[in-house]
Amino acid sequence: MDLFEYQARDVFEKHDVPVLAGIVATTGDEAYAAAEKLIADGSKVVVVKAQVKTGGRGKAGGVKLARSADEAREHANTILGMDIKGHTVHRVMIAAGADIAQEFYFSVLLDRANRSYLAMASVEGGMEIEQLAVERPEALAKVEVDPRVGIDEAKAAEIVTAAGFDGAIKGQVAEVLQKLWRVYDAEDATLVEVNPLVLTGGGDIVALDGKVSIDENASFRHPDHEALEDKDAADPLEAKAKENDLNYVKLDGEVGVIGNGAGLVMSTLDVVAYAGENHGGVKPANFLDIGGGASAAVMAAGLDVILGDPQVRSVFVNVFGGITACDEVANGIVSALEILGDQATKPLVVRLDGNNVAEGRRILEAAGHPLVTLSETMDGGADKAAELAAQA
Ligand SMILES: Nc1ncnc2c1ncn2[C@@H]1O[C@H](COP(=O)(O)OP(=O)(O)OP(=O)(O)O)[C@@H](O)[C@H]1O
Ligand SMILES: [Mg+2]
Repeated sequence: MDLFEYQARDVFEKHDVPVLAGIVATTGDEAYAAAEKLIADGSKVVVVKAQVKTGGRGKAGGVKLARSADEAREHANTILGMDIKGHTVHRVMIAAGADIAQEFYFSVLLDRANRSYLAMASVEGGMEIEQLAVERPEALAKVEVDPRVGIDEAKAAEIVTAAGFDGAIKGQVAEVLQKLWRVYDAEDATLVEVNPLVLTGGGDIVALDGKVSIDENASFRHPDHEALEDKDAADPLEAKAKENDLNYVKLDGEVGVIGNGAGLVMSTLDVVAYAGENHGGVKPANFLDIGGGASAAVMAAGLDVILGDPQVRSVFVNVFGGITACDEVANGIVSALEILGDQATKPLVVRLDGNNVAEGRRILEAAGHPLVTLSETMDGGADKAAELAAQA
């Protein structure tokens, strides 16, 4: 999960990283009030900043200096609603203006290829770091960080030296890097990036713009992270699936897919796409892994999510009975259809295999639900589901 800049600012503040005051606004009037407050608190200028989860906001006209509350309102009115690389601006942050003497770059991230963490720093911040990395790679210091040790005093000193920070501010910068490490570590982040990290005219080191990505696999350790989710941006079906602890990803096709286990669901997607080629090019509509315990409630929740997708024209349920045997899965499907009642309107192809398969099939046949077709094989089931989707 990527955070907005204002959320990254809050997280930085929580871990004592030096930041400037910032207030979120969703209208010109709120921006006016925010600027008025910051100016009353001593800011000579404020900066109106688009809050979108993409880079290059400044270049796109999404970061603007204002010398008065009136000017902040004007800028906010221009920036709100703006489209930046396909992201609509719904919020701006009104930030206290910094007196910038120098701009630097710092980031720490998960380096999957090397099974380690990587810190990067440069005394040439501000510009796009991707461009710097290509044009002047020697200006971007890269230092491996041992996940077991992190950025302690010694590592921070190594990073500021490698990046060539001026001796007079080395110690100060190193201290901020250790705090940024605490953000990365304590929040279970996979990226903490500050661009720019600045030296102010007053001699302070301040993080002016932060990007933070959080590892959602660690969310069980962070009940407070739920509040950081951008509920507006979430697909409503994905949100519903998440509420029910289902692994659901919406895709563009017409055949809804339900399976148990990520591997089986992935291969089901392939088989459906392949079968779809013989039926006018229909494709899988989603990825839905109902996991190990395919109980009636879980099956009903899964079917409910998939049938809620207007693009879905048929559903292929492909379950391998293991710990949860096929008869339980079959009972799950039958009760799910009872629970859904009239809401179940699309044809369902079911292929069961594995533990207690004969009993599972018998249960489905006995129920004889008009929407359900049984299939003996995965290929056959995929073909039938694709055919039904093409006919619908
Ligand atoms: N609070 C501030 N006070 C003064 N100047 C600022 C402030 N925030 C940003 N700036 C200036 O605006 C520039 C761009 O700001 P920022 O880094 O936040 O956006 P960006 O780099 O365009 O966006 P992104 O990092 O998402 O690509 C900074 O390099 C800095 O010079
Ligand atoms: Mg930036």
